Amino acid sequence: MPQIVRALMAGAPRTALDLFSGTSRVGHALKRAGVRVHANDHNAYAWVLARCYVAADARRWREPAQRLLAELDALPGRGGWFTETYAVRSRYLKPGNAARAEAIRARIAALSLKPELEAIALTALIEACDRVDSTVGLQMAYLKDWAARANQPLRLRLPEILDGEGAATCLEARQAAERFEADVAYLDPPYNQHSYLGNYHVWETLARGDEPEVYGVACKRADVRERTSAFNRRATMEAEFIAVLERVRAKRLVVSFSDEGYLSLPRLRELLATRGRVREISVEHPRYIGHRLGIYNLRGEKVGKPGPAKNREHLFVVERVSAKTRRRNRKVEPALGR
Ligand SMILES: C[S@@+](CC[C@H](N)C(=O)[O-])C[C@H]1O[C@@H](n2cnc3c(N)ncnc32)[C@H](O)[C@@H]1O
Repeated sequence: MPQIVRALMAGAPRTALDLFSGTSRVGHALKRAGVRVHANDHNAYAWVLARCYVAADARRWREPAQRLLAELDALPGRGGWFTETYAVRSRYLKPGNAARAEAIRARIAALSLKPELEAIALTALIEACDRVDSTVGLQMAYLKDWAARANQPLRLRLPEILDGEGAATCLEARQAAERFEADVAYLDPPYNQHSYLGNYHVWETLARGDEPEVYGVACKRADVRERTSAFNRRATMEAEFIAVLERVRAKRLVVSFSDEGYLSLPRLRELLATRGRVREISVEHPRYIGHRLGIYNLRGEKVGKPGPAKNREHLFVVERVSAKTRRRNRKVEPALGR
């Protein structure tokens, strides 16, 4: 994070566009630094987080949010579809916590809140579930034995909202790139087959407040199979990345990428060099715990080898240069910035 934020802040931007905002951690850090941020992501749960952490102005929403969360936190549990699906049929939450989450979600829907206040309440609920869930982080599967934290009561906390306004959209990155302009744009796309919607499907259901058809041991939403991202397929990843790159309107770009992605780093450097001068920062990063533990079958037997404990994350900073300089650079040094 500090490296990403430093890279984004280097040109002293007044505005920033985060096209793949996910948790909105980056947008939140930029907002704290005084930048007006626009966060975009195509999943509903990420849009909720973006409306809370980037768009909502704490000066307007802190007090109503505190009152609302106190009321929601006092609600007794009311079990229904969510509790049956995620505490009985699968084991994401313990039944008492699932029933409380369900009652809170139903009350938020019934109140027809202003979008920012609703997003703050939903973020508080998502984060409260996250603190007492029985996973190792992702919602691909739940632990065979309840995680110790699952025994803690679900409690709502006020998210760390910040003073100032921002914007949040729920669009495909290429559409957001076309529509909005900023001094700096941050691109952190998925780089392999792992679908964020599949990994955080329970958050998506909490964000949408629906009762979808589900499948598999993790009770994933059936639409995880249809709502895919072009970035999650080897065959479409490069073309989609180019489509975004061609559309994005910002003087500077900061791009995060891993050395384990579908797009090779030399090819990525080549693509980025078509936009300007490329500088590269590489960071060693601990991998997701599942990679380090190895792969187990449903009987709990180890069937695969653990992967390396670390991978390299690469941060590319692309500064726009004139078309003439770009042509000259391409002749002299095809892969700039190493
Ligand atoms: C690597 S994560 C971003 C993580 C984020 N920087 C953070 O700090 O949490 C990639 C994000 O891209 C989103 N995404 C995937 N395909 C997308 C698309 N075509 N358009 C917009 N967002 C997309 C996913 O929902 C996911 O949140």
